[in-house]
Amino acid sequence: MELIKTSCYAELSARIADMISAQLILKPRCTLGLATGSTPIGAYAELARRYQAGAVSFARAVSINLDEYAGMTAETPQSYAYFMNEHLFRHVDFEPENTHLPSGSASSLEEECIRYDRLIETCGGIDLQLLGMGHNGHIGFNEPGDFFIAETHAVKLSESTRSANARFFGGDMEKVPTHAVTMGIRSIMQAKQIVLAVNGQDKMETLKKALYGPITPRIPASILQLHRNLTVVFCEAE
Ligand code: GLP
Repeated sequence: MELIKTSCYAELSARIADMISAQLILKPRCTLGLATGSTPIGAYAELARRYQAGAVSFARAVSINLDEYAGMTAETPQSYAYFMNEHLFRHVDFEPENTHLPSGSASSLEEECIRYDRLIETCGGIDLQLLGMGHNGHIGFNEPGDFFIAETHAVKLSESTRSANARFFGGDMEKVPTHAVTMGIRSIMQAKQIVLAVNGQDKMETLKKALYGPITPRIPASILQLHRNLTVVFCEAE
């Protein structure tokens, strides 16, 4: 495990963009596992700048996102599909057919989960997986529970996750979806490289437990201790 302590959000974002750029240079036809939430926004903006400066291209890359809210289509501004388009896809040269998210509006979420796992397999797995971490230690939407769930699955969101994400819904808890679809722990752990990005003093205690405490599904990020190529980029300042 490599730990990179950064002094501000701009530095955190630049370090993440460095690792994604390096992956794209090393293997232009790579599969990037991408994340949403507020943490990666700066890194995506930095990647868009680098693309516009001609330093990096996504033309041959494939992206596989971690998760999506149940019941949402890409047209809903709070959906993760909308988020990815807004913050990254429309600013760079990804081929639209090479960008993937689980569909939250599929008629059968069960079938959608099977489709998504097959898709990840067809892509040959993930080369670099970018992860954020929830305040409760969730990764993707793998919420704390009694056991780790290997496959892509539908999940009931915890109240703490819903309230942490209420800021994206005008602070209105009523509007925050109760369920989501998330990539499972297996596809995440099988990524060749994982970059865990954690921003903010309020997540440091959970991060410490995740990295140095027991490996437990109560803190889903703790399983990352077992990954052979994990880089943790963090910033304690808000
Ligand atoms: C959501 C996403 C996670 C993300 C987490 C942290 O719950 N499903 O993938 O890591 O939020 O978000 P933030 O970076 O906004 O704290």
